[in-house]
Amino acid sequence: MKQALLATGINGLVGSKFVELFENKYSFDKLDVADLENPVDITNESSVNNAIQNSTADFIIHYAAYTDVTGAWKQKGDKFGLAYKVNVDGTKNIVKACKNFGKHLIHVSTAYVFNGDKNELYTETDDLSPIEWYGQTKAEAETAITDSDINWTILRIDQPFRSDNYARPDAVRRIVDGLKNDKLYPQFTNHFFGPTFIDDFALVVDWVIRTKSKGIYNSSSGESWTDFDFASLINDNFHFEKEIKKGDLNEYLKTLDRPYQRNTAMSIEKLKNEIDFELKSVKQAVKLVKL
Ligand SMILES: NC(=O)c1ccc[n+]([C@@H]2O[C@H](COP(=O)([O-])OP(=O)(O)OC[C@H]3O[C@@H](n4cnc5c(N)ncnc54)[C@H](OP(=O)(O)O)[C@@H]3O)[C@@H](O)[C@H]2O)c1
Repeated sequence: MKQALLATGINGLVGSKFVELFENKYSFDKLDVADLENPVDITNESSVNNAIQNSTADFIIHYAAYTDVTGAWKQKGDKFGLAYKVNVDGTKNIVKACKNFGKHLIHVSTAYVFNGDKNELYTETDDLSPIEWYGQTKAEAETAITDSDINWTILRIDQPFRSDNYARPDAVRRIVDGLKNDKLYPQFTNHFFGPTFIDDFALVVDWVIRTKSKGIYNSSSGESWTDFDFASLINDNFHFEKEIKKGDLNEYLKTLDRPYQRNTAMSIEKLKNEIDFELKSVKQAVKLVKL
């Protein structure tokens, strides 16, 4: 018999891969705003409460979020804006329902909870220090969870990509599209991030459920890549043989009206020491990408 799981955001880029890989193991009680028969908007407290009350699942995986970082910046400071309502109020509604009905919350978060000023990999003990509105809403969501007395697990990812195509281009396919169409912007040599292989991240979520692991886990690749090196890897992997121009983040920042994290690469030593399977390196994962 399949194990029941409550889930938000499982039509999204990251969550839909978990469903695809684990649909034989889990049955999903979806809190889905687009569901035609039983839509659940996570910003609606009573809808969330009802959906969670009606499920036998022990865990809820919370992928849903307002994920448009630029769109969120336009709502900066607006607690009635959609970004805040979905990311903060929505998460608080889920926390309350988890408390009411004894569910364990697995929350998907982001490296954008950090300011990006650190010269090394971010760890789980680093303080939250968001510098833009999306990051701030995700940080507030984390705090609502860590301040609660429910069972919780927070998994932070960064720049995700998956093996198969999704409706929206991911971190690899944005570069592929730019290379194919000769429209790739100059790639920064001084911006650092930790690409996350979504297929492996699904295994991490399953591991949390299997082991009931609690606490914060940075859950990217644990590697640090510059945009230029990552684009070069993709160029080589798919044999595009295009010339990639080098860009300077500092010059770009002068043209941008919102703050941008210089470094979002995270250490995953904590996770790697606990999981019972191997995560792929970024190079191994990119080899598995089918265009
Ligand atoms: N993508 C990234 O670059 C990235 C990086 C770091 C962390 N993350 C985190 O990873 C998680 C998943 O991201 P993603 O890229 O998979 O997101 P996504 O593709 O933008 O999907 C977001 C999901 O949230 C759902 N949703 C939005 N508003 C909702 C509401 N009011 N009520 C119920 N559901 C709602 C959407 O439902 P519909 O499809 O029905 O609209 C969709 O399924 C998020 O928590 C995000 O913060 C993402």
